[in-house]
Amino acid sequence: IQVEALEKIAGTDEIKALQEIRVAYLGKKGSLTGVLKGMGKLSKEERPVIGEIANKVRDAITTALDAKNEKLEQIALEKQLEAEAIDVTLPGKPVKQGGPHLLTSIVEEIEDLFIGMGYEVREGPEVETDYFNFEALNLPKNHPARDMQDTFYITNELLMRTHTSPVQARTMKEYKGEKAFKMICPGKVYRRDNDDATHSHQFTQIEGLYVDKNVRMSDLKGTLDVFAKKMFGEDREIRLRPSFFPFTEPSVEMDISCKVCHGEGCSVCKGTGWIEILGGGMVHPRVLEMAGYDPREYSGFAFGMGPERIAMLKYGVNDIRAFYTNDKRFLKQYHQA
Ligand code: PHE
Repeated sequence: IQVEALEKIAGTDEIKALQEIRVAYLGKKGSLTGVLKGMGKLSKEERPVIGEIANKVRDAITTALDAKNEKLEQIALEKQLEAEAIDVTLPGKPVKQGGPHLLTSIVEEIEDLFIGMGYEVREGPEVETDYFNFEALNLPKNHPARDMQDTFYITNELLMRTHTSPVQARTMKEYKGEKAFKMICPGKVYRRDNDDATHSHQFTQIEGLYVDKNVRMSDLKGTLDVFAKKMFGEDREIRLRPSFFPFTEPSVEMDISCKVCHGEGCSVCKGTGWIEILGGGMVHPRVLEMAGYDPREYSGFAFGMGPERIAMLKYGVNDIRAFYTNDKRFLKQYHQA
């Protein structure tokens, strides 16, 4: 039995087969177990002799089984380790890095510029009330100037804000007609426009508002001049043209000088050498009054600009939709290293 068992053990290299051998010899119905069970039938003299032999055989088989089992397990483990091995000397896969969206960078650049001039940065809701978006800005219901901004209404009283100007009214209300302040407010705005190269139903604006005693038109002009030169270069000029907004009086539109160029990529500054980048003016006395500021004591200037326009001018982007279609090839060009 021993010779046969040891041969079989030596001849196998599978753990499962080894278990079968163990059962075949040492199991309940195993052949060695059979011998041990038969001991009772033996004579007194034979019993110790056969018993000793049987025990030795059992020990030999058990030892051989255990040894082989350990060896096979060791081999299996080595195989597994080899399969799972990691070569730490291999070069790593590069992790793709994102970066701020061009619009985000532009907005942050403008914010920094105005923070440097003492402005605080504020925010307001994109879903706005008719009151703050229009009425508090001197645009009563049915005022024809409401048509200037085609509006997405949600209910009769709720709408998607068409400009960031409601944050003017919100801020003045919060400061209760007492505090002098300078603030800018960047944010998304919405208009019922059909998207094309220069229109988007959603775009961004940055509002600016300065309220104090004795704020004058020349303060607005000086501030915008500093802004234009810092943003586009010292050689830039600005010009103010008379315009109309119900919430400013007088109202202006500001153009910035740009190099006249021709052909592809120049469509943002065609022909005239000037491009419009913002609207503004002196805060209308009615607007101050409605927000709780006494217009005999306080005055202010306000402006609203479009960061897309500014980015288009600065980087020669000629389609506003490029900011919103998120083609990575476009966006990647503006990631700083
Ligand atoms: N809200 C105006 C617009 O969207 C811009 C503006 C802001 C004009 C502040 C005057 C003062 O067209």
